[in-house]
Amino acid sequence: MKPKIAAPAPAPTRRSRRPVPIDVPVLDRLSLRIPSGQKTIVSGVVATPARLRRRIRELARSIQDDFGNREWVVVALLNGSVLFVADLVRELHGPLILDFIGVSSYGDGTESGKLVYTKDLKFEVAGRDVLVVDDILDTGRTLSEVIRRLKSLGARRVRSCVLLDKPSRRVVKQGADYIGFQIPDWFVVGYGLDYAERYRHLPFIGVLRPEVIAAAARERVR
Ligand code: XMP
Repeated sequence: MKPKIAAPAPAPTRRSRRPVPIDVPVLDRLSLRIPSGQKTIVSGVVATPARLRRRIRELARSIQDDFGNREWVVVALLNGSVLFVADLVRELHGPLILDFIGVSSYGDGTESGKLVYTKDLKFEVAGRDVLVVDDILDTGRTLSEVIRRLKSLGARRVRSCVLLDKPSRRVVKQGADYIGFQIPDWFVVGYGLDYAERYRHLPFIGVLRPEVIAAAARERVR
């Protein structure tokens, strides 16, 4: 299935130093060819492993062109971005340093709540160019808070990369410089994305079945 392409972003002004956005494929149709063993977990597949690989290669090319040869720091948000960043950095030439920051939002499993830092950076980012990597841009609260923190730590330039973007869910005015795919308001799991810490290991991204959420809610009541 050929993905739809979002309308191209307006041309940057002469004074803009933001990277030129590349077209973002919109994934709004589900494939029902679900790997066996996962049919009770997901109702359809949003992105296959092959689709993810191809898109990550495109993102890496664009990031590498923008960052160039001055050493930069990739800051990946734990835990959701782990599979994505592992594949992304292997497509980058660098020179780069890979570091991790832990942020958790305590909500009910599908809704984000209050943000708490669970792990600090190991590396000093003051005066450095930084690329923040996250799995998904949803309300925008997480990315906006992490960018604020990196800037307050003195990062010279902060750019952001997310694998998925759900623009319809935005609460905070926050975009990303590099976006893998846009998706509708679906709760997705796999390729690092979890529901109650489960399903991160799936090699594809799929839409979580509502029955799974209902069963977890029943468990919580017991
Ligand atoms: P915000 O709302 O702060 O959300 O932009 C970012 C974090 O929320 C989680 N999130 C999801 N996790 N499937 C998931 O497994 C989803 O569809 C989803 N939407 C948001 C995720 O941890 C992300 O970093």
